[in-house]
Amino acid sequence: MDRPAAARPFGGYHVDPGGEADHELTQVGPRTPAGEYFRRFWHPVALASDLTTRPLRIRILGEDLVLFRRPDGEIGLLHLHCLHRRASLEWGRIEDQGLRCCYHGWLYGIDGRLLETPLEPPTSKLRERLCLGAYPTKERWGLIFAYMGPPDEMPEFPVYDSLCIEGDVLAPYPHKYPCNWLQVAENSMDHDHVVYLHTPKDGDPQFYASWGIAPTIVYQRFDYGIHYTYSRRVADKIWMGMEDIYLPNFTQAGCVFTMDGGKPKYFGRNAFTRWVVPLDDTNTTVFMLAHFNDRADPFRAEYLEEANLQKLESGTTQDRPYEERQRDPGDFETIVGLGPVNLHSREHLSATDRGVSMFRRMVRKAVRALADGTPPVQHTAAGVRPIPTNGGDNVLDIPARASCDDRELVIEVSQRVLDIYRDSESLTGEARDSLVIERLKALEAEYAIS
Ligand code: FES
Ligand SMILES: [Fe+2]
Repeated sequence: MDRPAAARPFGGYHVDPGGEADHELTQVGPRTPAGEYFRRFWHPVALASDLTTRPLRIRILGEDLVLFRRPDGEIGLLHLHCLHRRASLEWGRIEDQGLRCCYHGWLYGIDGRLLETPLEPPTSKLRERLCLGAYPTKERWGLIFAYMGPPDEMPEFPVYDSLCIEGDVLAPYPHKYPCNWLQVAENSMDHDHVVYLHTPKDGDPQFYASWGIAPTIVYQRFDYGIHYTYSRRVADKIWMGMEDIYLPNFTQAGCVFTMDGGKPKYFGRNAFTRWVVPLDDTNTTVFMLAHFNDRADPFRAEYLEEANLQKLESGTTQDRPYEERQRDPGDFETIVGLGPVNLHSREHLSATDRGVSMFRRMVRKAVRALADGTPPVQHTAAGVRPIPTNGGDNVLDIPARASCDDRELVIEVSQRVLDIYRDSESLTGEARDSLVIERLKALEAEYAIS
């Protein structure tokens, strides 16, 4: 085949040095299409433990903001700059009614109302005329969430069943990436990398040796996102991880460090809940909740240290000597190594990128639909509370059969498991648990070799 000059050996000179990012998906500032789309959802913006008696300066979706907790516990999220002469309110003082600018003392309520202008004449109408930009917040699970979209379009705050498990110990922590949100989020749709990056053939596995077995992946798509399974044949068992991807940036997955596919497990729950939050176009914080409970990972006190939590989730910590990072790179090295914003026009997507392409297509469709006037579908739409989710693991005792291709068998079983989860979505709590577990065991019995 006659290759173009740039695709020939030693053809570096001919390679076009340019390249473009996928701006439609990567730009999240105010009034950009993807920025508008992101603003239609609730997102975590800080850890509750970051709030002290002083204001906290943050940046979310390209906006500079200040977050503070009033003495009565109410939380305010305001535009960073004072309406008067634009002093930064990070230097302000928290008072009973709100946040007071340090420069001339203008006082703002948590809803942005201008409550006092102490140096102005008593007849001043400034308080009636002005209001600082503010956003509604909610505090849950050790995180502060905000909604930054049009007030009339504010969706219901989503509460997922995975966040209502009795006895669950939750550990919130941030995972910071100096790069665009898309390359962080789509790593969750690129399950195949686990086989290579996290389970090197010439080194210790970052998780478990079974991660090195090539997975069989089955996707189910919905208007709010994707459920997918990643399954591995481990002796006579099928070890099946379940991942939830809810657009645009929410993911949940199974355990990474207590599972090796050995012991049967039915409807294990997720070990991590993640929101991939763009701070701006080149900085992202993944707000993480690690779960420790009998159906996810067991609790050990040392896990609560942030470095250990990072390691549990991505196999390595971010803060390591350069040489060690070269010897044993992890998610952080690969994702940040793509550059501040990946040059998507220079990628060569391949068979393992089916999930990445699917995710981009779905986000693009939703971004364009919103630009044309159709708001995104929220995962609250079905009406069941708390919202049923799937993230977790199953280990099913379903041996391979001499009479059929094992990959085909695993695909068939994965589809049936996804259907079992789907069919149980009108139920919650123990009712859903028992139905799913009962049907998983029945499935196992159906495939038993007598
Ligand atoms: S700049 Fe804030 S009160 Fe003057
Ligand atoms: Fe990874």
